[in-house]
Amino acid sequence: MVKITYHGHACIELNDGKYDIIFDPFITGNPVTKTNPDNLKPNAILISHGHADHLGDAINISKKTGALIIAPFELADFCQKHGAPNIHPMHIGGSYNFEFGKVKLTLALHGSAFVTPDGTHYTGNPCGYIIHFGGKCFYFAGDTGLFGDMKTIGSLNAIDVAFLPIGDNFTMGPDDAAKAAEMLQAKTVIPIHYNTWPLIEQDPEKFKEKLKAAGINCIIIPFNNSIEI
Ligand code: NI
Ligand code: MN
Repeated sequence: MVKITYHGHACIELNDGKYDIIFDPFITGNPVTKTNPDNLKPNAILISHGHADHLGDAINISKKTGALIIAPFELADFCQKHGAPNIHPMHIGGSYNFEFGKVKLTLALHGSAFVTPDGTHYTGNPCGYIIHFGGKCFYFAGDTGLFGDMKTIGSLNAIDVAFLPIGDNFTMGPDDAAKAAEMLQAKTVIPIHYNTWPLIEQDPEKFKEKLKAAGINCIIIPFNNSIEI
């Protein structure tokens, strides 16, 4: 059994009863989350890219709890230079067996930088993640546009759950995400990265209907809610 908690935007927490891992912990400043970042005690934090709505509270949580930060090399280095005590740099195509499960970094078509008033700090390439956790295989696409290699990712991995952005504007919208779902052949698709702000407003129910018509199972987790699979 894996408990999946959706903190809104792209922040997904997985818990198998022994380990707790969290993707893209954008909590502070996230208008749709009710989560108190002080209550998060993950073993590992997986970050897809350096944009503020993904890096989020990662460094502070890592400082407070000692949680391991897993990220593309340049972003992991950025986190370390900003005080993260515990990092594991990786890069696209590479995998590693952590005690909680096997992690592989996948391609994502997007940017990666941390932007502050004094400039733009590039943090390498963005990524997605294939992770084997609690006996299940998860694909966290990160922020990405549709790309044909999703078909390869699907053929190399029996994906139980795929987390796909549907917000459009910065990432895939619902039509491309539906095409992605088809290529990935995931057993279940969970939409993310929508309705945080008006710019990425979408109706997840319409996305679910679209997937249903294609014979693909879709679960919508309301913000601040959990499911078990
Ligand atoms: Ni982004
Ligand atoms: Mn984003």
